[in-house]
Amino acid sequence: MAERVDTSDDWIIERTGIRQRHVAAEGECTSDLAIKAAERALAAAGVDGKDIDLIVLATATPDYTFPSTAVTVQAHFGCAGVPAFDVQAVCSGFVYALTVADNFIKAGQVKTALVIGAETFSRILDWNDRTTCVLFGDGAGAVVLKAEEGDGSSSDRGILTTHLHADGRQHDLLYVDGGPSKTQTTGYLRMQGREVFRHAVVNLAAVVDEALKATGLTSADIDWLVPHQANRRILDGTAKKLGVSPDKVVITVDRHANTSAASIPLALDEAVRDGRVREGQVVILEAMGGGFTWGSALIRM
Ligand code: ACO
Repeated sequence: MAERVDTSDDWIIERTGIRQRHVAAEGECTSDLAIKAAERALAAAGVDGKDIDLIVLATATPDYTFPSTAVTVQAHFGCAGVPAFDVQAVCSGFVYALTVADNFIKAGQVKTALVIGAETFSRILDWNDRTTCVLFGDGAGAVVLKAEEGDGSSSDRGILTTHLHADGRQHDLLYVDGGPSKTQTTGYLRMQGREVFRHAVVNLAAVVDEALKATGLTSADIDWLVPHQANRRILDGTAKKLGVSPDKVVITVDRHANTSAASIPLALDEAVRDGRVREGQVVILEAMGGGFTWGSALIRM
């Protein structure tokens, strides 16, 4: 990074906690990353692609303006005919997508949903802007949701509650200065980092509190906080404000940087596979992104 812009490894690590980021290969698209993540999620869940009833894909960096990246994924898995669409809520995209899929399941419309967060932010970065290009990476993560009857007891597994918010008045603090209708260009990410930071900790702590209040749980009941991975200081600040011990926070920002909608499923995947997150535990997901958008999902695994 220091060869590209006026920065240093020390500055990046101290201010963000980011030590590395991944960048998609030339020609490798958001759908390619999404398909790889979905294949692993389906294998882990023991679900065949043909059994998917719904695909919701969160991304702000789709392959094309249209069709959606979700339908490209759908074509790969051979489940033509089922609904497939993208959700655009930038860094909150995964929480939004999970909420949409959960509501489809709770409404009884689908039984098995594939929810993906996938991004190639490297394609919308101004690589000459040191205030943004050092912060982001490319990646994808996915989960499979399955309908299951509970017995109404407090040990029921699943998504216990979700909370979504948006405030379009904050557009200028974090946006991409391109788009098909307004500029007929792809554009680059623009951000007033300090202002975003200021809003982030407040909004994120509030939306976790909202989830706890809705379920009657307290921060002591949280086994794992799996936050959107934007900046190590935001993660530490939010956990502190919530009274969640740092050793209950899943952190991948050091190795992935900010992968927007992909960051939560990437972090969740890591913590499930290394045995930290286990069945029966209470996990809270939270995210904030451009818009602003923000949200949380409280889950009993
Ligand atoms: N290398 C060296 N210096 C830099 C760099 C860099 N890469 N970037 C900025 N600076 C300079 C600035 O120009 C400024 O210099 P100046 O004082 O001469 O003007 C100085 O460092 C301090 O800048 P600040 O913006 O005050 O630095 P801050 O400590 O706030 O850190 C950062 C900047 C990392 C962007 C921080 O504000 C942040 O993380 N904000 C949140 C942004 C974010 O995570 N957005 C993602 C999407 S939203 C979300 O996911 C929650």
